[in-house]
Amino acid sequence: MSTRWQTYPTVEEAAGNCCRFILARLEEALSRQKPATIAVSGGSTPKLLFRDMAASGFDWERVHLFWVDERVVPPSNSDSNYRLAEEHFIIPARFPRPNVHRVHGELWPKAAADQYTRDIQEFFSLSGGAFPHFDVIHLGMGVDAHTASLFPGEPLIEDHERIASAVYVEKLKKWRVTLLPGVLAAAKHIAVLTAGSDKAEAVRHILEDPYDPRRFPAQLISHRRDVTWFVDTAAASLVSI
Ligand code: 6PG
Repeated sequence: MSTRWQTYPTVEEAAGNCCRFILARLEEALSRQKPATIAVSGGSTPKLLFRDMAASGFDWERVHLFWVDERVVPPSNSDSNYRLAEEHFIIPARFPRPNVHRVHGELWPKAAADQYTRDIQEFFSLSGGAFPHFDVIHLGMGVDAHTASLFPGEPLIEDHERIASAVYVEKLKKWRVTLLPGVLAAAKHIAVLTAGSDKAEAVRHILEDPYDPRRFPAQLISHRRDVTWFVDTAAASLVSI
């Protein structure tokens, strides 16, 4: 498999196809082992994806849910990525709560990152510097080509050792917790869902500029074998894919 770019007329169609892709990869994983694992991103675009996943009728009992990143806020806060997923996916899909592994954003940033790292290490029975191999990781991309909570210029983009870290996002003046590049690289499948004309410049950078993830963090995953981009025509308007 190579890096695949799939373009759709609308964000709804991109999200629907991204959902079908994710469910197919989870079913494949479940034919080999149980449970399957997925880590999802936040922001606003995922709302459409979450709704499709919730409406799919998939048997979520066999899946464990993690996050790619989280804002360091309580789960009830409107900025919480957990809250976004709870509202649009976990509750409507009746996702089993014991299978939900949220980042405890209510803690201090480093404590939240350390606890999340321990949770992942325990769930995947990891020791030493081993990484989890998520069956699926869902990513988005910001207008500045950030992904997860790895923003341009962030030194953690070069951290290929650890699983997760707290990160202070200067431009947002906010703390976050994010999975790090080694975990993204270890994923069996990555699905990137990005849409809107405001993302077109970032898509062009990812596709056409030399590899420089410090400038364009989403390039961390764009050069991988097993990543599929789901974009709408607006986000793809400056490139030919
Ligand atoms: C977050 C996300 C972040 C997101 C991008 C794109 O916590 O904000 O994890 O990395 O994927 O900001 O978000 P949109 O797709 O909503 O523009």
